[in-house]
Parts: sequence; structure tokens; C-alpha cells
Amino acid sequence: MDRTMLTELCRRQLQLCAVQEGETLVVLSQGSERADYADAFLYAARSLGANAYHMRMPEPGSSGSGAWEVGASELQNNPRAVEALEQADIVIDLIFLLFSKEQFAIQRAGTRILTAVEPTALLARLFPTKELRERVEVGHELLAKASTMRITSPQGTDVTYRIGMYPTMSEYGYTDEPGRWDHWPAAIVFTGGADDGVDGTIVLSPGDVLLPFNSYVQTPITLTVEQGFITDIRGDLDADLLSSYIRSFEDPRGYGMSHVGWGLDERAQWHGLTQFPGGMGMELRSYYGNVMFSIGPNNELGGPNDTPCHLDIPMRGCDLFLDDEPVVRNGDLVVDAMRPTSRRG
Ligand code: FE2
Repeated sequence: MDRTMLTELCRRQLQLCAVQEGETLVVLSQGSERADYADAFLYAARSLGANAYHMRMPEPGSSGSGAWEVGASELQNNPRAVEALEQADIVIDLIFLLFSKEQFAIQRAGTRILTAVEPTALLARLFPTKELRERVEVGHELLAKASTMRITSPQGTDVTYRIGMYPTMSEYGYTDEPGRWDHWPAAIVFTGGADDGVDGTIVLSPGDVLLPFNSYVQTPITLTVEQGFITDIRGDLDADLLSSYIRSFEDPRGYGMSHVGWGLDERAQWHGLTQFPGGMGMELRSYYGNVMFSIGPNNELGGPNDTPCHLDIPMRGCDLFLDDEPVVRNGDLVVDAMRPTSRRG
């Protein structure tokens, strides 16, 4: 993307984040990654009168597995750097700190954090809007007051989450509240089931997505879930790959059930992974009417599981009920206030 366009996009993003004159904004990057994003945010911040600087961490050491291990970052060894980020008003995270204890510490200090790691074309196409935020917040309210979530599908999924003990979270692609994290782009709401409160069967169908494999399921995978943990994984090659991935962490907590929720962005495309194979898959997470469950850590929600083994699995064509009331039907949102105005009844 043209530098001027990227800078303009970042300026509009920082305006949504309510960046004010005199605020301190830190762009956090590592190695030579996303130097163009860093420049664009710095120029944008300066044009809004903010005090901006760039904190560049060393290239991370090799973890060995090459996997999408969340929670590990160079900040672990740099308490002074964490202190500086805690003193900022807003941090632009170009590394992807999610699930690290350093991120939680920075948020606790009241600093807002915006992660931006997706390809620039996706940042532009799914640029956040206030209207989308409002619809996400409607979903947030509904989810926050529910005590059960049941997900079903024609392929045989029937799983129930006991919810309400963990907070409800929403992501709408920008952050204007102290201590709040968000991810550009995003349009999702989620919470977590009780540690021993997820039971049933999940059948992944061809076309469902395995993140971080960044691949579409080709052959059905049947997961048995008992008391919050996956106890059986059946199927052909895709099931073998999933089992092998989780097993490689040598951590029984890798079988835990993590966050669960749905996406609301009608602009997102299901074929997004074919266009942006190097991205984090935010387009699939945000896809309108997808139901996404996750395997692994729940410490982001305040839970005890901080395993580095983490999968997000967006699924199409599901039904989702909160306290037996339908929210998603066959992959379509059925609550009017969560639908874009053009699709309301
Ligand atoms: Fe996740």
C-alpha cells in the first residue's frame, strides 16, 4: 500500500482511538517487522499532536517449535521497557502481545493497546466503524447476561457451555477506553465456559478454519468434550494433524476449552485466507455469523489455563443459543440490532 494511504488510514484509526494532543503514544515493534506500519503510526500520531516514539525490540530468539506460541515475547526480559509502556496513554502493538503477562500489566496501568499485524489491504477493507462497534456491543450485552450457550449444526455439533463466570469480551477494531485492548480489524464477542462446564460434541466440517494452521478443514473432525476438556479427536488426516499439534506441546491443558463467541462483520470474506495467507486470520474470526470456539488458554479471561497451545476455530452454518434463545441460525445473526441496517427485518 502507498505510504500516504497507510498514514491516512492510521490517522483515522488514531482518531477513532480518541488520541489527543499531548498524549503519549508508543509504537512497539520487533526486529525489522512492519517498519512501514511504525512510520505510518508515528506520522499519524504527530499530526494529531500526540507525543510519539518507537520502541523496537530485538528479533525474538527461536522457540524451537515454530508454532504460533502465544504469550512469549521479548518484553519478558525487559522490565524497563514494560515500565515505559505502562506510562504511555496508548501502545500500538505491532508484535502481537496477546496472552502475555506483560500485556496485562500494561493494561492494568490504564494504557490502551491496539494490535495491528494484519496485511494493510485487510486493515483498509475491514476498517472499523462506530456502527459496527454498536452492533458488537449489542452482542456483548446479550452474551454477558446469559448463563448457557449451546451450539448445534446439521453435521452433528451439539455442545453446551456453562457461562457467566468469566467476563464477556468484545473486539471492534479500535480502543478509546483506558486499559482496553483491541485488535484492528475485528468484530467479535466472546466469553469462556466454566473450567469444568463444557460438554458435548463438536463436528468440524469441510470449510471450517483451523487457526493458526491458516487452513480450511477438508475432512470432518469429531471432538468429544467432557467437563471442559477435549477427550477424543476422530477423523482422517485433519484430525491427525490437529491431534499431533496439540500433543506436541506436551501439556494436558492444551486440550482445555477456551473462548467461544461469534463474528459480526458482513464485509469479511470466508475465502480471506486464500487472499491473505500470511495474516492472523482476523477476517475469518470476524466473519458475519460465524461461530468460533477456541482450544487452550483462558488466562486472557482471568482463568488458570496459560498453556501456549492455542487454536481458534471459526465455523460456518451453526446455530447458537443463549439460554435457549437463538442468536445465530444457520450462520446468520437473528437479533435485528446485531444485523447491518440493510439486513434488518
Ligand atoms: Fe483465541
